[in-house]
Amino acid sequence: MAPFGTIFLGVWGVFVVVLIQESKPVSWEEWWTYDGISGPAFWGLINPDWWLCNKGRRQSPVNLEPNRLLFDPNLQPLHLDKHKVGGVLANTGHSVVFAVENDTRHPVNISGGPLSYRYQFHEIHLHFGLEDHIGSEHTIDGHAFPAELQIFGFNSQLYNNFSDALHRAQGIVAVSLLLQVGDLSNPQLRTFTQQLDQIKYGGQAVEITHFVVRDLLPDTKHYMTYDGSTTMPACHETTTWIILNKPIYITKQQLHALRQLYQGDMKHPNAKLGNNIRPIQPLHHRPIRTNIDFSVQQGHKNCPTMNRDLYYKANSWK
Ligand SMILES: *[C@@H]1O[C@H](CO)[C@@H](O)[C@H](O)[C@H]1NC(C)=O
Ligand SMILES: *[C@@H]1O[C@H](CO)[C@@H](O)[C@H](O)[C@H]1NC(C)=O
Ligand SMILES: *[C@@H]1O[C@H](CO)[C@@H](O)[C@H](O)[C@H]1NC(C)=O
Repeated sequence: MAPFGTIFLGVWGVFVVVLIQESKPVSWEEWWTYDGISGPAFWGLINPDWWLCNKGRRQSPVNLEPNRLLFDPNLQPLHLDKHKVGGVLANTGHSVVFAVENDTRHPVNISGGPLSYRYQFHEIHLHFGLEDHIGSEHTIDGHAFPAELQIFGFNSQLYNNFSDALHRAQGIVAVSLLLQVGDLSNPQLRTFTQQLDQIKYGGQAVEITHFVVRDLLPDTKHYMTYDGSTTMPACHETTTWIILNKPIYITKQQLHALRQLYQGDMKHPNAKLGNNIRPIQPLHHRPIRTNIDFSVQQGHKNCPTMNRDLYYKANSWK
């Protein structure tokens, strides 16, 4: 989302690293954080353009209550193209962000699922905790995961680019993966975590030449979906969220490396980057739909409505 004042030296077939300190002045109106007087409770007051952060009633993230999901038989399988893309992994001071190169010839399309349009992959955000019991923005039945990876795309049938689509109807899709601690990491995730020592400080960035977004996804067809907002200012309510029902895995070592990242630059590192989590927002009667047919799983094939007794728990996903 944030444009980086970064220059790249391209070299074929290797990960090339060039680190430039972000030197552009930051205006008060763009200055926001995850705590204190510029924290989430004040985003809507800092900048009038961000009024939805405080006034909006279709905001994200939310808590997903397994026993209140609505089975929707019309929901399609989610589709993501499987070819590789190049881009830049950066510490933006707010998040670890992988942004696809602007002029990519072969965009990764995201379609299907609850989507009526074709979306084009734009960037990935990583939210994580400084301790294991927090980190994800979305929670399941009140439980947070140690991290959440959000894959963003923009509606490429209606809009020209991500920044335009951000504030337009049906503009954005966010596919959310919850991360669980495991002994073996998701291999694509490792592509990011191997580079973390290069982006220890805010403003640093590293080029990644071959990345297969789809390989991040866990092996599942099932998801939950609802209409919400971006979880950072300006909180536009244009995001279709798709939360997959299985986590992917991150090792303790990788989490440790993430927790060494700082918000600020080398001279003024300020606080740790972790705990970049917007608090849970009220649902205000929004439905959360799923393609998990609980009744079929229980054997009552004639009755496609959800069985309220049968639900899964966050910690039984392992
Ligand atoms: C990529 O996008 C950024 C932000 O809009 C812009 O500053 C930069 O010039 C673009 N780069 C290319 C190669 O198009
Ligand atoms: C993605 O969508 C574009 C149209 O925006 C299309 O030209 C392209 O072939 C699609 N990519 C794949 C791999 O299907
Ligand atoms: C995005 O699209 C809008 C509308 O077409 C255009 O005005 C704007 O310059 C574009 N932004 C970028 C960064 O390309």
